[in-house]
Amino acid sequence: MQILNDISLKPYNTFGIDVKAKHFVSVTTVEELKTIFSSEEFPQKFILGGGSNMLLTKDIDALVIHLNLKGKKIISQSNTEALIESKAGENWHEFVLWTLEKDFGGLENLSLIPGNVGTSPIQNIGAYGVELKDTFHSCNALNLETLEIETFTKEDCKFDYRNSIFKQHAKGKYIIISVIFNLSVGDHKLNTNYGAITSEFENRNIDQPTIQDVSKAVIAIRLSKLPNPKEIGNSGSFFKNPVITKDAFSKLQENFPNAPHYIVSETEIKVPAGWLIEQAGFKGKTFGNYGVHKKQALVLVNYGGAKGKEILELSKLIQDTVARIFEIQIEAEVNII
Ligand code: EPU
Repeated sequence: MQILNDISLKPYNTFGIDVKAKHFVSVTTVEELKTIFSSEEFPQKFILGGGSNMLLTKDIDALVIHLNLKGKKIISQSNTEALIESKAGENWHEFVLWTLEKDFGGLENLSLIPGNVGTSPIQNIGAYGVELKDTFHSCNALNLETLEIETFTKEDCKFDYRNSIFKQHAKGKYIIISVIFNLSVGDHKLNTNYGAITSEFENRNIDQPTIQDVSKAVIAIRLSKLPNPKEIGNSGSFFKNPVITKDAFSKLQENFPNAPHYIVSETEIKVPAGWLIEQAGFKGKTFGNYGVHKKQALVLVNYGGAKGKEILELSKLIQDTVARIFEIQIEAEVNII
């Protein structure tokens, strides 16, 4: 375990922001993590997973701990289900492809989401009608106070839309070291209600789709709408889709009768932030070397060399403009550091 000094974090965040870590260490075992947390040498510590859900706006005056714990295995398998464990540092999409190669079902709709397995429960990643919580069994996490490993069941995690206990009162107190999934074997239940997935099947003349077909459809949809972070720096959806009251939505509909929306409950409606941002005129706008993605207004992009502060300012301008036009507050989904 080697501690490095003054390291650029550009390769470690999908936004591609060039800030420096005062100290940096890549950790491959839980023992190394325990050693770091039992030492008093670096009082300030900062945990870095896949770096796919953060906007770095300043240098980090701390020991940045890059979680590089690797390994995945089948814990048990029956004719109907399999329990699979992945260590936190595995790349999410590579892990999904590995489960699909083994014909384990459940993660196909979550193909191509950037980031690592260990951070996936924190915000309960979701796409195309499926959320992580649907296949989540449990996770093991290091308690940073006691340095004991604790297991969190699905109930313990209190999953919600882009939310979990790890964003609430367990925040900063644990490091997730592995995640266990309950996947289907043989009789897979496909989730293909999302319109774009069915259109992909029609285009490809697929009438009896497999989980692998669903994954390929999701990959094609994502590639057509979302920028590849390897080419254009971004953090996926920058904002959450706001949930508003039915009354507020009726008011919105008076001026915007075609506003897209999803019913959340009897009293609440979710409005796509991407639509609000597009209506506010920001879709595809560039400001020098950063801007709003041209195919999905929910995604802010760094075309190369942008500063985190500039993107933060743009996000505030978008929030203020949306609030002024629609009287709806949109909240950042990414962590601003
Ligand atoms: N829309 C617009 N303009 C835009 C973008 C979207 O009008 O620029 C409208 C679309 O026409 C559609 C609606 O908004 O009516 C929803 O769009 P889409 O299906 O693309 O989904 P989203 O609500 O914008 C959410 C997730 C994505 C996920 C997709 C697909 C959030 C914050 N985002 O986006 O997640 O891939 O659904 O399930 O919930 C991510 O979190 O990084 C992410 C990409």
